[in-house]
Amino acid sequence: MTTLGIIGSGHIGTAVATLAQRAGVHTVLANSRGPESLTEKVAELGDRVSAGTVSEAAAQDIVVLTIPLFAARDFPADLLAGRVVIDTSNYYPSRDGRIPELDSNDLTVAELLSAHFVGARYVKGFNNIAARHLPQLARPAGAPDRSALILGSDDAEALTRAAALLDTLGWDTVPVDSLAETWRFENDTELYGVPYLDAASTDPGGQDARPASVAVLREALAGATRADVGARTV
Ligand SMILES: NC(=O)c1ccc[n+]([C@@H]2O[C@H](COP(=O)([O-])OP(=O)(O)OC[C@H]3O[C@@H](n4cnc5c(N)ncnc54)[C@H](OP(=O)(O)O)[C@@H]3O)[C@@H](O)[C@H]2O)c1
Repeated sequence: MTTLGIIGSGHIGTAVATLAQRAGVHTVLANSRGPESLTEKVAELGDRVSAGTVSEAAAQDIVVLTIPLFAARDFPADLLAGRVVIDTSNYYPSRDGRIPELDSNDLTVAELLSAHFVGARYVKGFNNIAARHLPQLARPAGAPDRSALILGSDDAEALTRAAALLDTLGWDTVPVDSLAETWRFENDTELYGVPYLDAASTDPGGQDARPASVAVLREALAGATRADVGARTV
């Protein structure tokens, strides 16, 4: 069975590890502070998830890279060579500093990072859903209220392998077959979080999840409008 490495043990890393544990996928979880700092977290997650170094996580069959964009760009360029990588990054200038190629809309975040990681089989995913909604909306294959996630890549085989993993984790998928088109589900678009948010929520924070099917996401992708990234202030 495919093994999973997760680099980043924050909101999204923990949510994906939760899905992996439920699905029985052997997973190595890493962060910036080393495996010892993850002892408690992996014990809570369960026996399929172990703590490792960044290099150990990067050596698994599929790697989820889920750390702030500025930190990802500091990784060695060959760290992920040959691996199928699902990158969750979004660009927040207030956190990541201003990046001219993104501010000018010349590149998507996916194009920027895939160029950095030489030889990585780069897939963009998990970036347009709130971490808490991942375990809430995951369903077994065939469930009538199963949701979908969008995956973007220039690498058709990597897309297929990432989609198979997501199926195991409880999600249908909608492919976007070009990294240049992944602006369609970057932050500040209609695809960012909104499809998974229940507009009729009675939760005071308005954070209840609602399922989003393949058809719903396909329609939203087709009608997406590119964000003016240079105008972003957060
Ligand atoms: N939060 C969400 O709901 C959400 C949704 C979609 C997309 N995203 C995007 O996904 C990415 C991760 O978001 P997040 O909210 O999960 O982040 P987070 O909660 O802030 O966690 C970030 C993780 O990255 C690790 N990290 C930072 N630098 C590292 C390095 N050099 N080596 C190894 N690990 C490192 C941190 O390690 P330590 O724990 O050791 O500090 C931490 O575990 C961001 O680009 C974010 O914009 C987030």
